[in-house]
Amino acid sequence: MIFMESVKRSDRGAFSMNRNSTQPVTFADRYQSVLVPVIFEPWANELLRRAPPRPGEHVLDLACGTGVVTREIARSGVAVGSLTGADHSAGMLDVARQLAAQMSLDALWVEADAGALPFEADRFDLAFCQQALQFFPDRPAALDELGRVLKAGGRVAFCVQRALSENPMLRAQAEALEKNAGPDAGEAVRAICGLSDPDEIRGLFEDAGFRDIEIESVTLTLHHPDARAFASGAMGGMHTGDKLSGLENDRTNRAVEDFLKGLGKCFDGTGIRFPHVSNVIVARS
Ligand SMILES: C[S@@+](CC[C@H](N)C(=O)[O-])C[C@H]1O[C@@H](n2cnc3c(N)ncnc32)[C@H](O)[C@@H]1O
Repeated sequence: MIFMESVKRSDRGAFSMNRNSTQPVTFADRYQSVLVPVIFEPWANELLRRAPPRPGEHVLDLACGTGVVTREIARSGVAVGSLTGADHSAGMLDVARQLAAQMSLDALWVEADAGALPFEADRFDLAFCQQALQFFPDRPAALDELGRVLKAGGRVAFCVQRALSENPMLRAQAEALEKNAGPDAGEAVRAICGLSDPDEIRGLFEDAGFRDIEIESVTLTLHHPDARAFASGAMGGMHTGDKLSGLENDRTNRAVEDFLKGLGKCFDGTGIRFPHVSNVIVARS
């Protein structure tokens, strides 16, 4: 969890220079421009399909990052009662606010730790939490908090990455980063798959008082037409921090090449197509 902490402290200022411009590019920008369209937007739509928001409902997007779930709800056209995104990263929230403003989306963006939510009890009808539970330093406290801010019978939909052995793109990233940027960088990727056991997940939800808990392994096939662009963007834009911009150019290039090699059949010489496997959890408070 040190990685998340270091991101939280540094993300307002951390940047690398975009090779094509003089604009600083934060990892939150890269996360949004590279990872969100390829990975997080498809997952957001999967969660919305499984827990469709209803008119009038007050919806929380917990650990919202750059706000993709909230934007997809707005795009769905359902007239929800309110939209609130909460995240502990100021940098991610900055991007969420900018994108919401561009689409005239009325949402509240709140900087908060999942373990201490600044909301009154029984405020929300529905909560989403996409690819974040695994990073919470105190998962029981976060689920207790979520239960507190949800109305009785409120719905939740989560997705949490399954094991590295089932996720070839992440496995290739972990190995390439370990080799070229050191063990901490590799560990940051392994942490993405750090809560993969459905029994452990079920126990966490049960202990926090959730019921009607359904956990399903779901595979989405994701793709990007330009594997090299995806590679440098992905490894430079992980929510766990930019793992590439501190490296010398040739090291960065080697990390990208090792990543592409590690992809095996998922790389066709130009594009990348890979299975992305997560546990999807739906439950009621
Ligand atoms: C992989 S990103 C997912 C973001 C977003 N849900 C999405 O689908 O794009 C994980 C997010 O969890 C947030 N996060 C991690 N630990 C947190 C905590 N303790 N409290 C609030 N947010 C946290 C990070 O800042 C990051 O935005």
